[in-house]
Amino acid sequence: GVIYTVAIIKPDAVANGRLEDIKQKITEAGFHIAAEEEKTLTEDQEMATQFYKDHEGKPFFDQLVNYMSEGPSMVMILTKENAVEEWRQLMGPADPDIAKESSPDSIRAQFAEDILRNAVHGSSNKEHALKSIEYVF
Ligand code: CMP
Repeated sequence: GVIYTVAIIKPDAVANGRLEDIKQKITEAGFHIAAEEEKTLTEDQEMATQFYKDHEGKPFFDQLVNYMSEGPSMVMILTKENAVEEWRQLMGPADPDIAKESSPDSIRAQFAEDILRNAVHGSSNKEHALKSIEYVF
């Protein structure tokens, strides 16, 4: 598997003071935080739009860009054996109602507000991880 991925602690979780709790779960799960940078994915720089380009056209796209631009996120490069899959498992499903059922220990089960404001993001594959690293750092 791929040994790195990009994780984002999203503006809701940063604003709600969840940063340290989430970072603790990350390191307890055996990830190494290889890099981290606080960034606001501002709309005027088109950062959020670029970042979520694959979701352009979906009904929630504008809401997603607004949400991701509303304040600072913590963007991190995580390393671990099979990092992409492992991080997706630790995040849990996008919808916290589903996450609470299927994976109550997951970050989204514990910290997400709803399917949009869901606390964390993770790359879906190696190509996305690489693009995100080039884009954000
Ligand atoms: P993320 O894993 O970062 O990737 C796309 C994001 O879009 C997702 O987390 C949520 O923040 C948001 N999202 C996905 N599905 C929906 C939905 N059905 N309604 C609103 N927001 C969504």
